Amino acid sequence: MSSDLPHATMTAAYAGWAPVYDALCGPFFAQGRRAAAQAARRAGRRILELGVGTGLSFADYGPENEVFGVDISEPMILKARRRLAAGSYPHIRDLRIMDAHALAYPDASFDCVVAQFVVTLVADPEQVLSECARVLRPGGEIILVNHFYSERGAIAAIERWSARYVGVIGLRPDFPLSRLVRWAERSGGIEFAGSEPVEPLRVFTVARFRRQVAGLAAAS
Ligand SMILES: C[S@@+](CC[C@H](N)C(=O)[O-])C[C@H]1O[C@@H](n2cnc3c(N)ncnc32)[C@H](O)[C@@H]1O
Repeated sequence: MSSDLPHATMTAAYAGWAPVYDALCGPFFAQGRRAAAQAARRAGRRILELGVGTGLSFADYGPENEVFGVDISEPMILKARRRLAAGSYPHIRDLRIMDAHALAYPDASFDCVVAQFVVTLVADPEQVLSECARVLRPGGEIILVNHFYSERGAIAAIERWSARYVGVIGLRPDFPLSRLVRWAERSGGIEFAGSEPVEPLRVFTVARFRRQVAGLAAAS
């Protein structure tokens, strides 16, 4: 498995991606993004979206939601703020530049934390998940969508090979879901609630984790 991507790689990569992101990544990720937002809406009203990017998910939520978006990249958040300024998304309550490793929100303040195509890119995924768990109310859910590493067979070999070249542009094709499931098992307060491929291509997977009603152990 390739190593976790440092912050500096990520901010440099997304400064480059910001001007072209919507054209290149908008349609490609649309179904996964929508599937994750639908799952988040089922989990509750008050939603924190990590790595909100340019705000391509805004239309995937409904008027019943209160959505708070954060992203580490200033150029991406500036694009999201411009999208918001059009006025069509009153359910988007706040957009902030923030590192998902240290969320400036109180404990138990959201029904759901959702991250579309983010968790495999952060410098310390377990720390990010522990922050998600902290800001979730008991019974709340973490919803992730990503391409996860196949772990076996020819596709896994291609994913391992390509990981050597694409880290610099902020991609991580050899990241296994099992790593996040292991984090949940250690957490003492989060259970893995299942995963489902996104139709029709099944390249992306929505994974769900639920905060149990009993207290959390530290699990980063
Ligand atoms: C592949 S883009 C996905 C953007 C958006 N979620 C979407 O589906 O279009 C990954 C995003 O995660 C953000 N990101 C990476 N590391 C982060 C971190 N530590 N904290 C917050 N955002 C981060 C990047 O700046 C980028 O906007």
